[in-house]
Amino acid sequence: MPASSPESLTPSPGPLHVALIMDGNGRWAERRGLPRAMGHREGVQALKRTVQAAPELGIRCLTVFGFSTENWQRPAEEVSDLMGLVRSYVASDLKRLEREGVRVRVLGRRTGLPSDIAAIIERAEATTAHNDKFLLQVAFNYGGRADIIDAAQRYVDLVLAGEAAGPLNEQTLASGLSTAGGPPVDVIVRTSGEQRLSNFLLWEAAYAELVYQNVLWPDYGPAALADVVQQYQNRDRRFGGRPAPGVSPAPALAAG
Ligand code: FPP
Repeated sequence: MPASSPESLTPSPGPLHVALIMDGNGRWAERRGLPRAMGHREGVQALKRTVQAAPELGIRCLTVFGFSTENWQRPAEEVSDLMGLVRSYVASDLKRLEREGVRVRVLGRRTGLPSDIAAIIERAEATTAHNDKFLLQVAFNYGGRADIIDAAQRYVDLVLAGEAAGPLNEQTLASGLSTAGGPPVDVIVRTSGEQRLSNFLLWEAAYAELVYQNVLWPDYGPAALADVVQQYQNRDRRFGGRPAPGVSPAPALAAG
């Protein structure tokens, strides 16, 4: 079932879908002489503020990069801290998210996650599956390349099972990504002043606007998100075409 449909998204000057690389937790903590874990903990508070502020800015979907396939290379203690944040975020916020109409969807590989984290993720998705006011996608154990490989493998499996409907094309590949059925990404934001995608939403970034902000993630909140909206609304999105003045060539809201 699609995570969102065109009918469930009202027209807006946008952006409807903002993706966030929440960078700078470590530096925020180091600058204060605190352990990195404190930076991540404050990062969760920033995430809560940002999710709360998004609907009022006309945003209908946020996708956040919580843990990358590369983050396993961090010291075991930090990996364990990051896993712990999911436990505490779901424990403290799931009920409110459910009540406020937020659907939670987790992108990325489930294999390799501690079994209790996998169960927490499944519970969060199942509890909020009926919600359609807002979509919160958390990329966790996610890598853009891994996601494209998994989508290609799904297609290979269909071919081997004799179930492939036709040749591999953009739509069939996208239907195997963990973002399938969600709205297209309008803008990808990275905080902390770094300017790269770091394996986030590689396929989905094709026509997304990019915004880099100098704020460290734990300091993020409504004002910074409002600045993203303003920057986005001043961009001229052409999707490779040359539209007549006043005509938007934007594709349909629901991804294939
Ligand atoms: C990058 O900062 C941030 C992360 C690797 C983790 C992001 C996670 C959160 C904000 C917590 C909320 C997440 C969930 C899923 C509840 P960094 O450590 O790379 O910072 P640095 O570049 O300053 O060292």
